[in-house]
Amino acid sequence: MNKQLIIAIDGYSACGKSTIAKDVARILDYTFIDTGAMYRGVALYALNNQLIQGDVILTDQLADSLPEIQLDFKKNSETGKRHLFLNGTDVEEIIRRPEVAAVVSKIAAIKEVRHKLVASQREMGKNGGVVMDGRDIGSVVFPDADLKFFVTADPLIRAERRLREMQSKGIETSLESVLQNLQERDQTDRTREEGPLIQTPDAILIDTSHFTRESQLEHVLNIIREKFGD
Ligand code: CDP
Ligand code: CDP
Repeated sequence: MNKQLIIAIDGYSACGKSTIAKDVARILDYTFIDTGAMYRGVALYALNNQLIQGDVILTDQLADSLPEIQLDFKKNSETGKRHLFLNGTDVEEIIRRPEVAAVVSKIAAIKEVRHKLVASQREMGKNGGVVMDGRDIGSVVFPDADLKFFVTADPLIRAERRLREMQSKGIETSLESVLQNLQERDQTDRTREEGPLIQTPDAILIDTSHFTRESQLEHVLNIIREKFGD
């Protein structure tokens, strides 16, 4: 395949988007861009700078601080893996913590935050050869993407998978709180005014509930091959 495609993968929380995106990018030798990590990075900045007080987000102050927030995907020199860096610090691990998950969707609903991140995602993907996962990639960031997927899975299966993932990283939490967080984020993401989570009519629906990592990759690669050849 000569064309450098833009592949958009949107959908609900913890249904396998990043795993699909990462695996497809590896096979096609494309760049994987985890846009959720970027929203988590902004949420971490807000937490670190006391811009969240109880349930209140100091939205104006956060909007004013946006020029100071530098987000980059770079290789970690020790692991060789591409991680998110916030103002020069590797934050790949810390952005997955429950404290960040608890506030990220509220941060992601702020118009100014979305404008900044959408602009930077467009810049990262403009030459193609990217698999980008998120909530608004096929609807807002790249409405003309070559291929769009919308991923879903049974909420309990998603929560169990995310719980296992967090436990494997030594994060203590419970199935109930993970499930509640996923459902709250889905609701916030679906109903916000700016860039809500929607399945665009041209997106291909994938339910990963009964897929393994390997079988979901095979499924997606078959669709890509059918459409664009080898
Ligand atoms: O990994 P998980 O599916 O749990 O979430 P994520 O992809 O890391 O995204 C974290 C949060 O960022 C989401 O719940 C959304 O609120 C927000 N997000 C967004 O608004 N737009 C995107 N393109 C990506 C993420
Ligand atoms: O990116 P998103 O939040 O949609 O999900 P993910 O981070 O790719 O997947 C959430 C967790 O489910 C990860 O630990 C994956 O390894 C796992 N997973 C799985 O067990 N089986 C699948 N078919 C897809 C994902």
